[in-house]
Amino acid sequence: MTTAAAYVEFADREARDVSPVYERLARAVSRDEELLARLDALPVAKRQPNLLFGVVRLLGGPVDDPGAFREFALATWTRIDVELRRRATQTNEAGRCAVLLPLLAALPQPLALLEVGASAGLCLYPDRYGYRYGDYAVGSGEPVLECAATGLTPPGGVPEVAWRAGLDLNPLDVTDPAAVVWLESLIWPEHAHRQARLRAAAAVAAAEPPLLVRGDLVDDLPDLAARAPDGATLVVFHTSVLYQVPAPRRTAFVEVVRALPGHWIASEDPDVLSYDTAPQPPRDALNNLVALDGVPVAWARAHGQAMSWFA
Ligand SMILES: C[S@@+](CC[C@H](N)C(=O)[O-])C[C@H]1O[C@@H](n2cnc3c(N)ncnc32)[C@H](O)[C@@H]1O
Repeated sequence: MTTAAAYVEFADREARDVSPVYERLARAVSRDEELLARLDALPVAKRQPNLLFGVVRLLGGPVDDPGAFREFALATWTRIDVELRRRATQTNEAGRCAVLLPLLAALPQPLALLEVGASAGLCLYPDRYGYRYGDYAVGSGEPVLECAATGLTPPGGVPEVAWRAGLDLNPLDVTDPAAVVWLESLIWPEHAHRQARLRAAAAVAAAEPPLLVRGDLVDDLPDLAARAPDGATLVVFHTSVLYQVPAPRRTAFVEVVRALPGHWIASEDPDVLSYDTAPQPPRDALNNLVALDGVPVAWARAHGQAMSWFA
């Protein structure tokens, strides 16, 4: 796919109806030969809209007006280039716990949670947050995660977590203000509620920082899984991670995770983790397919804002 096509796809499938600012910006970049040429000089993984827009915001650039964005980007490209090469999109969205909760709450308790691609580990605290599925409330913590759910039997409570650990190529430390600033830059401009949610979830994690291990989800998963305590149900999970992993490594990961004891929860784009059968997604927008032990159970919007349960 060309870089221009990738920006159009981002506008159509991810930003439309979710972030008009990013939709407009992505369409403008897709038509801008000069910016496209600069992006094309980067490795493919570094050309992503989310990464470019996040870096420009980190550097104090404007994203509301495509013309001002262009001017800033061209004038500041040397610094942008450096940041694009040293960073990756590590958006950490606690809201995705609302999608995981129905599965986690139904497993034998207590749980030993192991998240691969954990970023700063904010999804490792599903027991600490509050949830609202329409009028139905679960848990009493903050932030409260809202999820418009259909077909769901709401979970009776939050899980009991005996152990939590994350694995990431580049774990982010929520007690480091610079890491939190980068996480904030990755949140889409109109999403003030997500900024507030990030800060509240980061406070939860900072009060009891998670065990985060630097490592690869294939090579280093068995060793970390072996550290889970006896007497707790091991749950390996991941949300919006495998699109960053090359296809042969995704296959290797599935083999490794299937060989582990316990359970496996995946919430991923079906283009990168596919299944033999799944109903049509609810709409023509990016939806993750949520699966327990390789069996799809629900479609979920990317930030956990909605889910459609079909199992
Ligand atoms: C988009 S973030 C998602 C973070 C978190 N799962 C969430 O949903 O909020 C993807 C994360 O996967 C990590 N990642 C990518 N490839 C990885 C690999 N091979 N092994 C471990 N982590 C990886 C990245 O560093 C990044 O922090």
